[in-house]
Amino acid sequence: MAPRKRSRAAAGAVPASKVARIGPHATMRTPSGPGGPRVLHRSRQPLMTSVQFDCAPADLGDRVRQAAHAVVEALGPVQAPIGLVLGSGLGGVADEIADARSLPYGRIPHFAASTVPGHAGKLVAGRWQGQTVLALAGRVHGYEGHPPWQVTLPVRVLAALGVQVLVVTNAAGAVHTALQPGDILLMNDHINLTGANPLVGPNDDRLGPRFPDMTSAYDPELRALCEAEAAHRGIAIKRGVYCGLSGPSYETPAEVRMIALLGADVVGMSTVHEVIVARHMGMRVLGLSCVTNLGAGLGEGTLDHGHVAEVALDSTAQMTALVAAVVASLPELEAVPRQP
Ligand code: HPA
Repeated sequence: MAPRKRSRAAAGAVPASKVARIGPHATMRTPSGPGGPRVLHRSRQPLMTSVQFDCAPADLGDRVRQAAHAVVEALGPVQAPIGLVLGSGLGGVADEIADARSLPYGRIPHFAASTVPGHAGKLVAGRWQGQTVLALAGRVHGYEGHPPWQVTLPVRVLAALGVQVLVVTNAAGAVHTALQPGDILLMNDHINLTGANPLVGPNDDRLGPRFPDMTSAYDPELRALCEAEAAHRGIAIKRGVYCGLSGPSYETPAEVRMIALLGADVVGMSTVHEVIVARHMGMRVLGLSCVTNLGAGLGEGTLDHGHVAEVALDSTAQMTALVAAVVASLPELEAVPRQP
């Protein structure tokens, strides 16, 4: 038997009088109210659904080279095999660096200056834990309005100056209910929910491949080393997945529940783009989060940046001790400057 054609009404179709056109392609049912259907939009313009990408500039490699050159001009030779991104609470490490030479981000071409209290930006070169290091003391964030390629430019400059191992630290909110403020979390993976990627735009093959692999974004050997050092020094650490969002609003409780369902353990507003760029340039990454608060809805009260920064500071001693132990125990590495 031939299938019977369903009538429009039976199929749930809405009479033409109740359908509003939005542009030439889309239709939308109008809600019916006491005064009859409301017309939502009568424009003949196509519905604009474009996603805005902040593309990396085509001359990104030149900008990296110019920035690296300016650092060397100002500070002298600064080639280092180990790089540190000092997030909230870990800024004090910069003061422990011996023979330190530093340059404010504002004096490095193409760098963006941080506008966030507690994130004052400078690049510091020197010796720490018996190793030659380059530290980014303070970071800029996408939520300040900087495009991802610029937020991550300092990391590229570290690679250009020879950094092979990059230690990234951050403050994060707990999403997994087993985590508590004050915990240190060794990042074993991340989820980039920022809606952006710093590699969008033309790829400069001298910087890295078009499609970098992210399978071992957080280096397994460095993680094992960190675990061993933590155990050796009696520093308790957890391990888990960091979810990066753009911020600057903290998450809603529903978002925190969603992030947990997606498989993340902590949430923050930094790091994921830096790690993507670090992997793009072939650096090995160790990531550590300082858990500063329970994610929205998991604890009492509301979230406050001042409180987050205070807890990060309280945890500084443990985080610093752990990063120091890892850096001290890294094998003899050679800085291999790149020519972007
Ligand atoms: N959410 C996002 N970023 C954060 C948080 C948080 O709860 N805590 C510290 N940084």
